[in-house]
Amino acid sequence: MIMEIAEAKKNLQHNGFLDISVDPSLDLFEAIENLKKKKNAIVLAHYYQEPDIQDIADYIGDSLGLSQQAAKTDADIIVFAGVHFMAETAKILSPQKKVLLPDLKAGCSLADSAPPELFKKFRDRYPDHIVISYINCSAGIKALSDIICTSSNAEEIIKSVPHNQPIIFAPDRNLGAYLIKKTGRDMVLWNGACMVHEIFSLEKITKLKIRHPKAKVIAHPECEPAVLAIADYIGSTTGLLKFSQRDDAQEYIVVTETGILHQMQKENPGKTFIPAPPNNACACNDCPHMKLNTLEKLYLCMEYEQPEITMEESLRIAAKKPIERMLEISAAAGL
Ligand code: 13P
Ligand code: SF4
Repeated sequence: MIMEIAEAKKNLQHNGFLDISVDPSLDLFEAIENLKKKKNAIVLAHYYQEPDIQDIADYIGDSLGLSQQAAKTDADIIVFAGVHFMAETAKILSPQKKVLLPDLKAGCSLADSAPPELFKKFRDRYPDHIVISYINCSAGIKALSDIICTSSNAEEIIKSVPHNQPIIFAPDRNLGAYLIKKTGRDMVLWNGACMVHEIFSLEKITKLKIRHPKAKVIAHPECEPAVLAIADYIGSTTGLLKFSQRDDAQEYIVVTETGILHQMQKENPGKTFIPAPPNNACACNDCPHMKLNTLEKLYLCMEYEQPEITMEESLRIAAKKPIERMLEISAAAGL
C-alpha cells in the first residue's frame, strides 16, 4: 500500500477525514473482512450507499433499522456507511463504542436546513406544542425534541400522541405534509426539505409512466406532494423494498435515491426498476452526501479508526431521550 503516514496524519488533523491513497491491487473486500474480525467491528450501511458498500455490510437498512442495530450491537467498533446524522445517532445510543464515518463531510441537506439556534426560537413561539423530529436532523435538534421518528414509524409515533396535544413536526415539510394527510393531525411544520427528493420532475415521471404504462410509481415520503399524488405506493426505503417483493407488478418507477435499486434488483431478479429522473440533465438522482463514502474510504477508516464521531456528553444525554422514546414506541408497535 502506497501511504504517506505523516501526510495522512496532517490531513487527519486538518480535515478530520482520511485523504490517502490505497494500493489499487489491494483486495478491498478481503481487507475489510479481515479488519472486521481483527477489530470486532460491524459495518452498518444505508440503502443509499454504493452497491459495493452494501455488499460488504453486515447490516443494510433504513434509518430505523440502522438505529435499532446501533443500539443493540455488541461490536467494539461501529463503522457507519451513511451520513453524519446516522453515525451521530449511533454514538448517542452506544457511547461506549467507537463510531466511525468513512467521510466526515457526508452531511445531509435536510439536517442542515434546521440550525438548532433558529429552531429553538421557532419552538419557543409554540410553548404548548411538543416536538416530533425526523431522525434526519443534528444532535442539537434532537436535544430540542420530545420524540424522534423515521419514515418507517412516523405514523405510529404521531398516533401515540394524545389528540388534544398540538405538535410541531421538523425538519422535513414534505414528510410533514404527507403525515398531516395520513393522520389527520394539524401539525406546525418546519420549512426544511431534502435536496434529493425535492428535485424529482413530475413532468418526466409522467412521461416515463406513458412509456411504461404497466409500471407502478413507488415513492419516498420526502418527495413533494405533487409527486406523491401520482404514487401507487409511498413508504420508507425498507417499505419500498418490501412492497417491490410482495407486489405482483413487473415494472416500477422508483422515486427515491438510486442506491435502493441495488437491493430491489437483487431481491427481484425478474423485475425492472426504473430510477425516476430529477428536473436537471441527469437521468437518475444520487445523494451527493451519501455517495461521498467509497469502499476505499471505508477501508481506510477501519484501518486508522478515523474519522471518529465524538460529542459533548450533555448534548448526547439530551439527544438520547427522544430517540429512546422512538425506539420504545416502535418496539410496542412491533416495528
Ligand atoms: P429512510 O432511511 O427512513 O427510508 O430515509 C431515507 C433518507 O433520506 C435517509 O437519508
Ligand atoms: Fe439527507 Fe436527502 Fe441525502 Fe437522505 S437523501 S441523506 S435526507 S440529503
